[in-house]
Amino acid sequence: MGKYRPFEINSRRNKINQAMNKRLFGRKKGYPLKLAKQKLFDEVFPKLRLSKKTKINEEIFSQFPSLIDTFWLEVGFGNGEHLKWQLEKNVNVGFFCSEPYLNGVASLISSLKKEYFDRIRIMMDDAEFLLELLPPRTISKVFILFPDPWHKKKHYKRRFINENTILKISNVLKNNGEVRIATDSESYVAWILHHFLKSEQFVWKASKKEDFLIKPSDWPATRYENKAISLGKCPVFLIFSKKNSKQH
Ligand SMILES: C[S@@+](CC[C@H](N)C(=O)[O-])C[C@H]1O[C@@H](n2cnc3c(N)ncnc32)[C@H](O)[C@@H]1O
Repeated sequence: MGKYRPFEINSRRNKINQAMNKRLFGRKKGYPLKLAKQKLFDEVFPKLRLSKKTKINEEIFSQFPSLIDTFWLEVGFGNGEHLKWQLEKNVNVGFFCSEPYLNGVASLISSLKKEYFDRIRIMMDDAEFLLELLPPRTISKVFILFPDPWHKKKHYKRRFINENTILKISNVLKNNGEVRIATDSESYVAWILHHFLKSEQFVWKASKKEDFLIKPSDWPATRYENKAISLGKCPVFLIFSKKNSKQH
């Protein structure tokens, strides 16, 4: 049995990698970038880039401007509307963010004022890698806005939110840290609530329907939110708070 273990481990690792790649689903690149956008991307992205191999330690936090005392994380920022709004409104916040889609990253970079560049670090890849790199208890808020819903039952396993990622999110969050999630998919709402409520790390503070149907004023609309509303859908806004704990 012992001599087969390396193969089993490799095969399991391959299966996990395959599942992660499927989740991203070949959307890493879309239409070709316009020349000016490509030029700006080539110039700016290498300075903001995080990769699976980046060592994230105290040093990376000290590279942010000295007034930054709080760090937030956005998963799958799309074209970056929400991220940009939060950067503008919260001058003492530094952002870690991930978006595997090149066009999204290039759109964010081209829409940001230069002075904001030193307050963000971008991973153009699966956010799960970013969650694995960040030191424990360093992040105060995590945003996951309109994650791909994967409507078919056989694809549910590709959903970003699952038992494993909830644990990883909990690990990087400070005590009382917040997770904000938006979705317009009924089956994903049920799925998210099921997974968060059964986790021991989080509480859902909503007590009436207004708490999840109406967003707080510091939660700007994204492209997907506007699209959902224009299609007559009813987005849901969920806020979970990390319980106080010594380990997490
Ligand atoms: C439906 S879009 C929502 C985009 C944006 N948050 C919004 O509300 O407009 C989902 C986004 O998540 C990104 N995404 C999908 N899987 C991801 C993953 N594992 N890690 C990070 N981003 C991911 C996709 O590339 C896409 O841009």
